[in-house]
Amino acid sequence: MRFNEKLKILREEKGLTVKEVAAAVGVREKVMERYENGKEIPKLKVIEKIVKFYGFSTDRLFDEAVKEINAIVDAAKNKNEVKDMKKILVINGPNLDMLGKREPEIYGSRSLDDINADLKTLGEGLGAEVDFFQSNIEGEIVDAIHSVLENYDGAVINAGAYTHYSIAIHDAIAAVAPKPFIEVHLSNVHTREDYRHKSMLSPVCAGVILGFGEKSYALALKALCED
Ligand code: DQA
Repeated sequence: MRFNEKLKILREEKGLTVKEVAAAVGVREKVMERYENGKEIPKLKVIEKIVKFYGFSTDRLFDEAVKEINAIVDAAKNKNEVKDMKKILVINGPNLDMLGKREPEIYGSRSLDDINADLKTLGEGLGAEVDFFQSNIEGEIVDAIHSVLENYDGAVINAGAYTHYSIAIHDAIAAVAPKPFIEVHLSNVHTREDYRHKSMLSPVCAGVILGFGEKSYALALKALCED
């Protein structure tokens, strides 16, 4: 069966959308890396479907597949069926590098690395490339926000305690407008101390998600990817 016929079956009979094909193309390096090392292929359904269906066995076949999938995706893009992959930056501020150890009854038992790994996988499923930045230093967070202007489609930000008093972080987000920022908090800050009720960032963010633990980040990422 020719490649194009197989692709047609994948799309039509197996219910793979063009967007899913695009997502799979976006994570091709990862598929290759895993496949080459003979390790388990990522559990992402779309990748499994494609890898199984084509039975990628050589670099040549894989390259051929990627080339032809790219051509189909380009054609779909021209017809506005699929958008470019989004690039999202997830920014975490002070003390969030201590997640897992820090007040677990408030912030949970998982580390920032654990949370970020899940967000990376979620992003792949949503057809987005997700990068991560964490700093305890206000100026470094300002620089990371500036980098969104040239390099990202939007950002998720948990600025920790800076949320409540940093005019510099407020100004940085305003400076890269209209790039959408979603403010997140693990805890519901409104049920906590009064000084946490005020956010300097909310007025310059596209939205705010708080109180859902680590799921707050996932909800924000979805909101940015699905618009
Ligand atoms: C936090 C809430 C802030 O008030 C606090 O200073 C943090 C974490 C949250 O994710 O719940 O560091 O942003």
